[in-house]
Amino acid sequence: TSVLLLNGPNLNLLGKREPGVYGSITLDEINALLKHEASLLNVKVYCQQSNHEGVLVDAIHATVDTHQGLLINAGAYTHTSIALRDAIAAVKIPTVEVHLSNIYSRETFRHHSYIAPIAIGQISGFGAESYRLGLHALVHYLRR
Ligand code: DQA
Repeated sequence: TSVLLLNGPNLNLLGKREPGVYGSITLDEINALLKHEASLLNVKVYCQQSNHEGVLVDAIHATVDTHQGLLINAGAYTHTSIALRDAIAAVKIPTVEVHLSNIYSRETFRHHSYIAPIAIGQISGFGAESYRLGLHALVHYLRR
């Protein structure tokens, strides 16, 4: 079983970016944590990040032959991108949406997700732990 972890815009800046909101952990550290967790679950996780919507769409399309599940933090595109939602719906890949911060305790423009309605579920507000929980949830779903 192979899972793609896809991170969207500005998440490459984790560690330096608004640490009060997103914590001090870097994306490299999150990726390492997820790879370790994946080895415990006996799955493979591939990590990709892009600041570009079209690159994220291409990455979702490319999952068809390679991956069985998608773990995604689409960053601000969560709240804006019908294209990302349509890409996930098109390839029909089982998807878990994750967020470091609790998007429902923040500005109202963060309360709506275009991805959530087509995802298996969403985990929001647990920092890096959101990713670990999300991986567990996704693998659990794939093995159901
Ligand atoms: C985020 C929440 C989004 O609202 C924001 O635009 C991000 C990060 C999170 O992980 O908490 O870039 O997805």
